[in-house]
Amino acid sequence: MQDLGELEKKWRGAAETAASAEALEAVRVEALGKKGEITGLMKTLGTLAPDERKNFGQQLNLVKDAVTTAIESRKATLGDAAIDARLQSERLDLTLPARPEALGKIHPISQTIDEIIAIFGEMGFGVREGPDIEDDFHNFEALNIPKDHPARQMQDTFYLPAKEDGSQMVLRTHTSPVQVRTMQNEPPPIRVICPGRTYRVDSDMTHSPMFHQVEGLVIDQATHMGHLKGCLQDFCRAFFGIDDLKLRFRPSYFPFTEPSAEVDIGCDRSGRELKLGQGNDWLEILGCGMVHPKVLKNCGLDPEKYQGFAFGMGIERIAMLKYGIPDLRTFYDADLRWMRHYGFMPLDVPSVVGGLTR
Ligand code: DAH
Repeated sequence: MQDLGELEKKWRGAAETAASAEALEAVRVEALGKKGEITGLMKTLGTLAPDERKNFGQQLNLVKDAVTTAIESRKATLGDAAIDARLQSERLDLTLPARPEALGKIHPISQTIDEIIAIFGEMGFGVREGPDIEDDFHNFEALNIPKDHPARQMQDTFYLPAKEDGSQMVLRTHTSPVQVRTMQNEPPPIRVICPGRTYRVDSDMTHSPMFHQVEGLVIDQATHMGHLKGCLQDFCRAFFGIDDLKLRFRPSYFPFTEPSAEVDIGCDRSGRELKLGQGNDWLEILGCGMVHPKVLKNCGLDPEKYQGFAFGMGIERIAMLKYGIPDLRTFYDADLRWMRHYGFMPLDVPSVVGGLTR
């Protein structure tokens, strides 16, 4: 008769020391499989005398249970170890530095808007936004643009189909309606910039039917043209990164400002390249003025009490000047090669203290 104690010891030992799930399965087959040693002994039970069979059968069952338990517990241990090993090997080291060169790029328009916000943010301006689809009042009427003004004619403005009452919404032709909305909704003092998309029926080397502007608005009781000048001078010098950039305020006309001016920056056009901040030439970059009393009134402010200035500038235009991008239309071609060349690193977030993009 076989020594069952030895048998149990042998197979439990084999199970407990199996090095892998495969080795453990081999142990199970050899001990408990169809042709396994313990199974083989089970099969001999029938040949034994009845009382011997009972006794040996019980003992053999205990051995079988013990070996089965040992295999199960080893299986659990090996499973945990496998998960641990997988966790180790698939671990992501989140502290490793990113590889920004392998990521996408920030579009120059987004970068330029971020720079503008950083500079004006430093001066205490907030950011406001308005809808791209505007009504006649906000885009024109409130801004003192009368019904027969050329800017209202079909060749400039995208009109939406007429509503039942005959009125037509428009794709905003400038960001100035956002200054109207801000004056309607917020009590002075107001100090905001409003970047966003604008639309005009126009398309060539220097015009795109969709483009971007940023509007600025400052309203309180004593704001004057000197503030306007200082503010825009500081902005232009910070934006272009030229400390002694020359600015010229040239009288102009806008229906919504009085007096109105256009701002030119000094440049040199004598060589093949345009050089900002040098030479004796001028380049127009924005429109501005003191908010017209009628506009203040249209927006619910008392012109006897409040006054202020506004300005508007084209974002593509100043981005092209700063980054030497020659053709406006390429901004919207979605050409990856162009983006790789003119785009910005995602981690290059502009700030006045951290540094603006150069
Ligand atoms: N809205 C003008 C445009 O689209 C730009 C502009 C000029 C805005 C003078 C202003 C301003 O706020 O004061 O061309």
